[in-house]
Amino acid sequence: MDNSSLVVVGSGIKFMSHLTTEAKAYITQSDKVLYLVNEPAMKEWIQKNNKNAESLDPIYTKYPLRIDCYRAITDYILDTLRQQQHVCVVLYGHPAVFAQPALNAVRKAREEGYYAKILPGISAEACLFADLLVDPGSIGCHSFEATDLLIHRRQINPHSHLILWQVGIIGALDHPYAHDNTNGAKVLLSYLNVFYSNEHKVTLYEAAQYPHFEPKIIEFCLKELPDITMTPISTLYIPPTGNATVDHAMLEALGINVRDLR
Ligand SMILES: C[S@@+](CC[C@H](N)C(=O)[O-])C[C@H]1O[C@@H](n2cnc3c(N)ncnc32)[C@H](O)[C@@H]1O
Repeated sequence: MDNSSLVVVGSGIKFMSHLTTEAKAYITQSDKVLYLVNEPAMKEWIQKNNKNAESLDPIYTKYPLRIDCYRAITDYILDTLRQQQHVCVVLYGHPAVFAQPALNAVRKAREEGYYAKILPGISAEACLFADLLVDPGSIGCHSFEATDLLIHRRQINPHSHLILWQVGIIGALDHPYAHDNTNGAKVLLSYLNVFYSNEHKVTLYEAAQYPHFEPKIIEFCLKELPDITMTPISTLYIPPTGNATVDHAMLEALGINVRDLR
């Protein structure tokens, strides 16, 4: 099937600045471009740079539940690919991060024998590491979708960094244009209190979407969570509480001297 392929690219978070040279080439040179991005300037740029570009927005809003829209998007990508053409799909951020439809499309396309791949992009989390000076490798880092954290009571290690995605639309499985997050934030606070004190300082984060703009960084005490205004692009960062203890049996098994740990 040399005449057809599927390449999923990410446009990053900041308009144009995060678009890689490789992603640009696929957008401009593919037979067909399907896109689902959350920012109008990027939509316009894609439309201008490929005359066969098509927005996936109508499918994204077609059904009441987001999960049904995601399935329909996967099906639409595959139907487009089956028309024997080189298809590029553009999603914002990193296209494999909290973005199931394209991941599923690539998996299914490969099962059907098509050449299909994902190119990495700059995610909101990558921007957070830079803006909040967080190294995920220093003490480990959890990354959870906020509703998923709650409904599965996922375990948190409070000695590691914690990043919560979709924290402004807790419990919303539909299209959260005017979502009231008050109850969700209260439920989240009560769950986080199992691991963190009310006085623990946390940060609400929104990466800049345009060059020369600054990120939104709001620091507050955890107990204030229900009073903080959040949006669908808000991410919550919770720093660690204290240091994890060292397991001396493990040090011995690895031949590490405790004095060499700094
Ligand atoms: C469906 S996910 C998409 C993530 C995207 N694929 C990425 O790689 O960043 C949406 C969530 O990503 C996070 N997000 C998106 N844009 C953001 C921004 N500008 N700043 C901070 N977080 C953002 C928020 O947690 C938001 O609820």
